[in-house]
Amino acid sequence: MTTKTFTMQYACAAFEELSLEDRALVEEAKKASATAYAPYSNFHVGAAVALENGVVVCGSNQENAAYPSGTCAERCALFYANATYPTVAVRALAIAATDAEGAFTIAPIAPCGACRQVLLETEQRFGKPIRILLCGAQQVVIVESALSLLPLQFDAQVLDK
Ligand code: THU
Repeated sequence: MTTKTFTMQYACAAFEELSLEDRALVEEAKKASATAYAPYSNFHVGAAVALENGVVVCGSNQENAAYPSGTCAERCALFYANATYPTVAVRALAIAATDAEGAFTIAPIAPCGACRQVLLETEQRFGKPIRILLCGAQQVVIVESALSLLPLQFDAQVLDK
């Protein structure tokens, strides 16, 4: 038996340290959190997707009384982006959330497993890494690729074998 280790690299930055482009995307994600429909969790998540053509597409979590029918902000934004601009690569995605009191969370919001899977396939589909900005109230965590968020991922290529 051998033991192997994954390492992943991420950066932490204060909002003021971000580029103007990143700041704008963070602001869009924060704005999008106000459009969440989250009467069950009271956790309002916003996601903003920057496309290669310069367009920014936003989404938010949309819940349902039948809980699994709802979807996260990230998939809402990504699927909308891919459905509207099916040939345009996703460059970056920012995520922000407010708690039941309406305050932006201190902890940077990281995508759930299902959203990581969708992020990864979007990345592979266009062959370009997606820069991911996880926003907390005081800092932003930056990951340069969806691949690094999902080690030992399910790869669609196994379906061909
Ligand atoms: N949620 C997101 O939209 N994105 C995340 O990254 C984490 C969780 C949503 C799903 C659900 O509507 C609520 O937050 C509580 O889990």
